[in-house]
Amino acid sequence: MFKPRVYVTRQIFPDALDLIEKSAELELWPDDEPPSPEQLKEALSEMDGALINVMDRIDGPLLDAAPKLRVLSQVAVGLDNIDLAEATRREIMVGFTPGVLAKSTADLAFALLLATARRVVESDKWVREGNWKISHHPMFWLGSEVNGSTLGILGMGGIGLETAKRGLGFDMKVMYHSRTRKPELEAEYGFKYASMNQVLAKSDFVSIHVPLTPETHKFIGEKQLKKMKPTAILVNLSRGAVIDTGALYKALNEGWIAGAGLDVFDPEPVPPDHPILALNNVVILPHIGSASNRSRREMHLLAARNLVAGLNGERMEQIANPEVYKSLGM
Ligand code: DGY
Repeated sequence: MFKPRVYVTRQIFPDALDLIEKSAELELWPDDEPPSPEQLKEALSEMDGALINVMDRIDGPLLDAAPKLRVLSQVAVGLDNIDLAEATRREIMVGFTPGVLAKSTADLAFALLLATARRVVESDKWVREGNWKISHHPMFWLGSEVNGSTLGILGMGGIGLETAKRGLGFDMKVMYHSRTRKPELEAEYGFKYASMNQVLAKSDFVSIHVPLTPETHKFIGEKQLKKMKPTAILVNLSRGAVIDTGALYKALNEGWIAGAGLDVFDPEPVPPDHPILALNNVVILPHIGSASNRSRREMHLLAARNLVAGLNGERMEQIANPEVYKSLGM
């Protein structure tokens, strides 16, 4: 029986691989380091489908070199590594994995918010370095109070909403700015819609949950950081490039804002000699927003189901370019 050929560009949970192998002839990139652009181009050149990762750049020239490709399945909600228009133009279905990672990513947003506000990482390091000589001091290690403060959400999509809901659990007031206003969420949860400038100026914590697009590239720069309170903390779990890194470094170093909790960075990975790593008021994690066992497994399984559905000529559970269905007559 004819089986389509698919390439999987990184190790994933075994049950997701099993699911793909039932319908396709599978090849797996063997290394933890991602394939180079040339290696990826070569690997996809004869493939009908591919299960890809946020680090795999998919652009017009790569797609030109993969004439048989009908299905791409991204293991992520973010799609900034893919030229979606080029894929759509070639009638390639592009699957992705929204929803299943929203809660775990919001959990980590809160971990970062709390860690930065209450200086968790900094004080842990201080203890390990042998500095805990006085059991308790009334004026040591003061941080920012989270409960009762104002949480500003930029981007009220699935992850933004879950983060906002966690804020309510900490008795925070929630304000938000989003491309689309969400009156139903305002009615249900009491969130307040405001302009981006108001969110920046009035929040004690600003948490960013927008996709990286040409419009959001470096949309937090010097001007925006200067609008924030000097006591405020910025949290980012979207993409590093939505913030101008140079401006953020200045803001943290010169005290325009109190701190930042970052799960993503521009560039990624952060160079080990980057000056931001010398600052105590920033917590930096290695892009692990969705990295719980349950969420990652669900993402891999959803991506595998999307891939198989596309290869079978069926509609995917989650597609990023549904307009291809029309051109494919589905
Ligand atoms: C996403 O889903 O976009 C994350 O950044 C990768 O887990």
